[in-house]
Amino acid sequence: MRERVRVVGGARLVGEVPIVGAKNSALKLMAVALLAEGRTTLTNIPEIADVRIMAELLRRLGASVDYDPEAGVAVIDVPATIGHRADYELVRALRASISVLGPLVARVGRADVAIPGGDAIGSRGLDLHAAGLESLGAEVRVTHGYLVAKAPRGLRGAEIRLDFPSVGATENILMAAVLARGRTTIDNIAREPEIADIAEMLMSMGARITGVGTSCLVVDGVDTLQPTEHRVLPDRVAAGTWAFAAATTCGDIEVVGGVAEHLRSPLHSLAAAGCHVEGTARGFRVAAPDGAARPRAFDVATLPYPGFPTDLQPFALTYNAVAVGSAMVTENLFEARFRTVQELARLGADMQVDGHHVMTHGVPLLSGAPVESSDIRSGAALVIAGLVAEGYTLVSGVHHIDRGYPHFEVALRSLGADVTREPDEHWYE
Ligand code: UD1
Repeated sequence: MRERVRVVGGARLVGEVPIVGAKNSALKLMAVALLAEGRTTLTNIPEIADVRIMAELLRRLGASVDYDPEAGVAVIDVPATIGHRADYELVRALRASISVLGPLVARVGRADVAIPGGDAIGSRGLDLHAAGLESLGAEVRVTHGYLVAKAPRGLRGAEIRLDFPSVGATENILMAAVLARGRTTIDNIAREPEIADIAEMLMSMGARITGVGTSCLVVDGVDTLQPTEHRVLPDRVAAGTWAFAAATTCGDIEVVGGVAEHLRSPLHSLAAAGCHVEGTARGFRVAAPDGAARPRAFDVATLPYPGFPTDLQPFALTYNAVAVGSAMVTENLFEARFRTVQELARLGADMQVDGHHVMTHGVPLLSGAPVESSDIRSGAALVIAGLVAEGYTLVSGVHHIDRGYPHFEVALRSLGADVTREPDEHWYE
């Protein structure tokens, strides 16, 4: 049964909210576990549907996965011999499954990974993943919808420079290079904190990596890695979501466990727009300008880390929809990531799309209506939009939100929102 969220407008979100482990790290760390025979334990795993899909993928590769969602712990036991095929059925449900490519080709000498579908936010090619593995000596081709990488005699170190700092390509090349013979340098890499998280876990397994946190990693390959225990880093996109939720609803939220350092660009913009942003002993706090006045609109241009994250762009649109003044939101990473705009327009937002820019003109209040989420972030952004809309808003496609936010409406209710989940009676297939 499909579900939707009913949001009653008019709440200021006030209180505190906890942040758990990052989806975009946890899924990759589960793939990292494949690199070592034995039992790896991951903690601070978020309770989201994607983790279950990744667990199933690892099981089909031969690992046993004991996942306790409430405790946030996954114990992954990897046998000496594992499979090499990730089927379309699972990969289509979870684009992050592409991250088994690097570990499998390094560990087994072969990977057949279905070409993913994933979020409806652009074409998201795999050319940099393939070119990186080819540089390491793998033979890569696309056949019958699968990316097939073969390196029967193992991988060898190489000098690699990415044309673009792709997160996924950086991760796959890194996860393959740790078991390659000799030295690999990977230059112009993505610097997202999740990549440092992967590198830290790999190092605790015995990998030799320098340059973590910079745009160039140097990896000296080792013969084998050992299983480890690793805690997933906090989810900066979830933390940023609550920062925007506070500002958009003229509220005041302490993001407990959030790392402000990972959100310098968005938090700086919110502070410059008049919001109070401060570090606390447990994380950070974002509050509307004094007197709960509407904050000012601001321009956003998404960029690779440490620039403004593309995953927070839908929240910047919702914020600007009700902020004072006009602003330009520019998307530089994914070409089709403006689906939120047409839904915000249904709520009465005044914004126009022009190529990869959106011009926004803030209005004091939106007007509740049924809307449809198209991906994780647009879904959450539309729920927040419903909070600043007169009347009530019905957000369908809740399964998207569940992929990124454990118990989203429970957290919203604890902050004072009137949000309920209900069957989506008018949903037909
Ligand atoms: C990851 C995140 C996603 C985030 C994105 C950018 C996960 C599961 N997802 O996605 O939430 O929005 O980083 O921060 O971690 N590209 C190519 N060729 C390639 C690889 C990428 O052209 O081989 C392009 C993509 O089409 C896209 C851009 O590069 O336009 C960024 O992609 P990338 O950084 O790889 O993002 P993902 O790893 O897919």
